[in-house]
Order: sequence, then C-alpha cells, then structure tokens
Amino acid sequence: MVDSTNPLAAKRIVLAVTGSIAAYKAADVASTLVQLGVAVDVILSEGARQFIQPLTFSALTRRPVHGNPIANWTVELAGHVTLAAADLVLVAPATAQTLARLSLGLADDLLGMVALATSAPLVVAPAMEHGMWHHPATQEHLHRLRERGAVVIGPGAGRLASGASGDGRLAATGEIVGVTRAMLGRAGPLAGTKVVVSAGGTHEPIDPVRFIGNRSSGLMGLALAQAAIDLGAMVTVVAGPTHLSMPHAAEIIRVETAEEMLLKIQGAVEGARVLIMAAAVGDFRPAQRFEQKYKKANSTSGLTVELIQNPDILATIQAPSLIKVGFAAETEHLVANARAKLERKSLQLVVANDAAMTIGSDESKAILIALDGEPEVLPAMRKTELAAVIMDRVTELVTNERGSRTAMWLDHQD
Ligand code: C5P
Repeated sequence: MVDSTNPLAAKRIVLAVTGSIAAYKAADVASTLVQLGVAVDVILSEGARQFIQPLTFSALTRRPVHGNPIANWTVELAGHVTLAAADLVLVAPATAQTLARLSLGLADDLLGMVALATSAPLVVAPAMEHGMWHHPATQEHLHRLRERGAVVIGPGAGRLASGASGDGRLAATGEIVGVTRAMLGRAGPLAGTKVVVSAGGTHEPIDPVRFIGNRSSGLMGLALAQAAIDLGAMVTVVAGPTHLSMPHAAEIIRVETAEEMLLKIQGAVEGARVLIMAAAVGDFRPAQRFEQKYKKANSTSGLTVELIQNPDILATIQAPSLIKVGFAAETEHLVANARAKLERKSLQLVVANDAAMTIGSDESKAILIALDGEPEVLPAMRKTELAAVIMDRVTELVTNERGSRTAMWLDHQD
C-alpha cells in the first residue's frame, strides 16, 4: 500500500466489542480495518470475553486489548483519556445493555468512560434478539443516541442465535466497514466536493437475451469511488453491469447501455466538480435491436449484426468548472495516444495503461498524464492502491483550482 496516499493510514479508532454471540464477527471487522491501514484499539467488555478471547484481537490488531480502566493507566497510556483521543468510536456488536448505558452516560466501565470523554463520532452496530430490539426502552435509548449525533448501522433481519427469524442480526462486515470509512473521511480535503465516477462496462442489446459487452470488471471505478469517499467527497457512481458490491455511502445509479450511461451522467454532473470516467464504454451498439429473441431458424446462413457508434460520453460532457479525468487503455504508443485523448476530450488528467494487462485484472501499471507536466510512470500496484494515488492527484487539481479562484477573488478586492 502506498501509505502516503492512504488517508486511512493516519486514522486510529476504538472498536468496542460487547457481550453478544455476534462478538466473533467483530474479529472480521477488526481485521478488515487493520488491512485498510487503520490503527484499531479494541475494548473487550466483560460480557464479550465470555464469547471471544482478547488474544484474537491482539493478534489481529498487533495492539494491546483494553478492558480494565485502572490497568490502562501506565507510563505510555493515560487510561480512557488516551483511548478517547481516537478519530472514531465504533461499538460492534452493541448489545441492548450497552445502548442503554451509552444513552444514560454511565461511566463505570472503560467503554462508558471513553464514550463520555471523547469528542469523536460514535458509531454503533446493534445486535440482539428481535423482542429486545423492538422494546420501547431500546428504541428510546437509540433515539437519544441518534439525537446526540450517533450513527446506527443495521441491525439486519434474518436468522438469530435462538434459531428464530427476526430483526437484530449484526450488520455485515462490509456495511460496518463502509460506514466507518465514510465517517473517518468526512472532514477530508474533498469534503463538500461532488465527484461522479463511472464504473464497469456496458451491455448493448442485440435482442432481449443477447448483448455485446466487454470484460471490464468495474474494479477500478469502484476503487476510485471508495478512495474519493475516504477523502470526504460526496460520490455518485454510475455503474454498468458488474457483480461487485457497491461502496457504502455513495449514490448508486445502475445502467446498462452507453446511451443510458450518458443520460445518467449528464444528470449526475449537475453541481459536480469532478467526473472520472473509469467505465469501459462500448464504442459500438447494434443498429437494430430485435424485440423478440432472434431464432436461428430465421436465418440458416448466419446473422450479420450492423454496428453503429455510441456517443463519446467524456467528450460530450462539457461544463466550465468540471475537472474531467479519463482512462486510456492502449496496446501501443501509450503516452502519445493518451495525450491525444487528453486534448481531444478536454481532460485535466488521463490514466494510461496497458489494455491487455489491466482489463479484468486486480493490478494495473499506469502512467498519469496531467494537462501540464511530465508523464508520471507508476509501478505495478493493486487497483485499490492506484485509486488512492489518482484521487491524491485529483485532490491537488481541486485544491489548486480553489486556490487560484481565491487569488482571483482577492485580486478583485484590491
Ligand atoms: O477513446 P477511448 O475509448 O480510448 O477513451 C477512453 C476514455 O473515454 C475512458 O475514460 C472512457 O471511460 C471514456 N469513453 C467515453 N465514452 C465512450 C468511450 C470511452 O466516455 N463512448
């Protein structure tokens, strides 16, 4: 991971795990956050220790696990005060008892003390039995916590520990981590900035069951959307067909064809500062779309499909204050072809990469070419890492423009 461009590497959170059978799932949450670069300090309540060992969390986080408020006063640690200086307090799973204690502000255990001492946002992921969740006492405590700014994730519905079905399942790890990332990023350098990202390929129908498509996975676009959220941006994803899960905390617009994508992006860029076209848009579509499934008996000699050109979305969308970023997947003359694209489509930045190596792969080896400046040759890296580097350069473009606008405004005042 290129840590200097990973905003999560500078973040520290407290993960409080309380006494629910779902406590074992908190290990996955801790592990995922650590892998993203976040420093995770775990508080394990007495109840949680009946379900899972401190060793699980100390091994995953490579940090001591906390529990006893007195033992936490050491030469290095000022007890709950050190923990309270975290960027976020996440309680997952949060039992009915924990929600009540947090709502009342009880401070006779470490989590209670940290929750009162901290000025960081509180995020709770409840898990309990259906009746406990719906009890007015639990709902009143939640209402109070929400009023004070706490963010509540889930719970989901489905099979509960008793074997019965109902509400009260701990939210999935992906959702807990997604919301946590968005909360950690919210005051980042792109806070208040709207970013539109396209992802995936397009499907151009021949008839109701057949289409012309491409091998794009959507990985690059979705990684860019997540990287933008990590920097505080308000993100809209316009996604073609993909099986990957969408980032939490983004507006998601699903499309199928290039024409649909153009239409949706035209709407989405209203009020946006940045458009990143990571989608592999189909350049051609069948001139004719059969209303019914085309039968092979219709034509014994085969079928000729005439293709016509799709609109070029990036070239079509023009807005004076919109920073446009494009991709150039080429098989030869990478830099020259990418530069030509930069000019033809009036882009501020183009990401050039080897088409054969990058499409459908987890990794990419890219060259970044900005409007002014030398090409920046990057080493091969995972697409999630490349997304962080691209968003770092995009942030520079946004802040430089902000700077020059302020300078113009100041000039005006003289
Ligand atoms: O011209 P070429 O397809 O190589 O350009 C690639 C860039 O243009 C990508 O950023 C892609 O998302 C965008 N594009 C587009 N509309 C098209 C084709 C490509 O916006 N019809």
